Amino acid sequence: MGKAWSGRLPEGTDRRVEQFTESISFDHRLYREDIEGSRAHASMLAHVGIITSEEADQLDKTLVTIRDEIEKGDFTYDISLEDIHMHIERRLIELVGDTGRKLHTARSRNDQVATDLKLWVRKHLDLLDSRLEAVQRAFVTTGFRYKDVIVPAYTHLQRAQPVLVAHALLAYVEKLQRDRDRARDCRARLNTLPLGAAALAGTTLPIDRQFVAEALGFDGVAANSIDVSSDRDFAIETVFVLTMVAEHLSSWAEEWIIWATTEFDVLTLPDAFCTGSSIMPHKKNPDILELIRGKSARVIGDLQSLLVLVKALPLAYNRDLQEDKPPLFDAMETVLACLELAEPLIAETTLNRESIAERLPEGFLDATTLMEQLIKVGVPMRSAHEAVGGLVREAIERQCTLAELDLELFEALAPGKGNDVKSSLGVERALAAFQSEGSTAPERVEKQLRIWGKRLGLE
Ligand code: ARG
Repeated sequence: MGKAWSGRLPEGTDRRVEQFTESISFDHRLYREDIEGSRAHASMLAHVGIITSEEADQLDKTLVTIRDEIEKGDFTYDISLEDIHMHIERRLIELVGDTGRKLHTARSRNDQVATDLKLWVRKHLDLLDSRLEAVQRAFVTTGFRYKDVIVPAYTHLQRAQPVLVAHALLAYVEKLQRDRDRARDCRARLNTLPLGAAALAGTTLPIDRQFVAEALGFDGVAANSIDVSSDRDFAIETVFVLTMVAEHLSSWAEEWIIWATTEFDVLTLPDAFCTGSSIMPHKKNPDILELIRGKSARVIGDLQSLLVLVKALPLAYNRDLQEDKPPLFDAMETVLACLELAEPLIAETTLNRESIAERLPEGFLDATTLMEQLIKVGVPMRSAHEAVGGLVREAIERQCTLAELDLELFEALAPGKGNDVKSSLGVERALAAFQSEGSTAPERVEKQLRIWGKRLGLE
């Protein structure tokens, strides 16, 4: 059999062109979606009377056979057939002859590939959601396990204020929830059917697009054939969602790489999720976290590639759009793999309670609480800030903590209330004094843990 376009171009195609234009090496991933779309299309063609129901049955059965062949590895790929769509159609024609030659009625590869891609993205956004949820669960479970542990929180990577470690872990749960929400929005927006747009203008044949939309689980039919056959917003949005996930994972990985150092000694990573050194016998390296951080670069690059790819395409389909697949597949597969590893790594990490506790008195984590204590006894905020700044200088000079300074210093700032003020000092007390909604106040964190535990089905 010659090419589908052998009527117009009977001389055949240069082999170098075939090599250059093929996409089967990456779009073979779409075989399931392509077959799913073709089955719905065939069934619609019979529904409106363009083909007979016997023909539709034969097409349906044969498409299932082809799917099985592909899954068993019994399918031959050949770059002269360009892409997955041509491969499947060619095999269909081989198996059922003229009936197979009817499948592409009222359809173009332009609406076909857009449909396949949307189906692929939809399925993978669902998988993304469940992997994000699993990582959220790991954070919440770790939060419950170390509910009483206080850690220093940082701004500018300088010790700032004390927080419950659960509060810090829940910060990631919130970020990942926004990623899940974005993925859901994106899924809802993409869920209109391209099939039936045909090449770009629709078709003169009496097709029923609603029928196909329902069969494939789309919420409706895309209203404009030119738009939907050229639209890749959904791919870009998906890769943006993935980029945000990658950014969140990268920041988290960076934090835990730092926390795992001898210098910080906040946590111990599970051995099974670390690697050693080929020369230094003592090493235990956080390579998984480093690669999670490193792979974010690829995903950011994928987003860039897609944005640049479509930026000046005239309407409607242009072959440039074939280049949408490698970055889309790469971003999705990379982020899914990162999430798959993040979950057990988090679940099996241990916090180094003693080492954290031992060093909590360092770095004046209670200074801001002391300032607020002065505010509570009537000192204006700016004066209190200045006064506590002075006390910190004094403590640095004497190489002691704020709590170890003399009572008179506090009496001088708050006459008659020096004791009250001083009693707020110490990291545990400073932590216990938090109140505001959304803060690290222990009862607030406890409540948030329970809310998330319930939401994620942990209780
Ligand atoms: N492999 C092509 C792609 O991924 C399918 C669409 C081809 N359409 C065309 N008019 N050449 O975009």
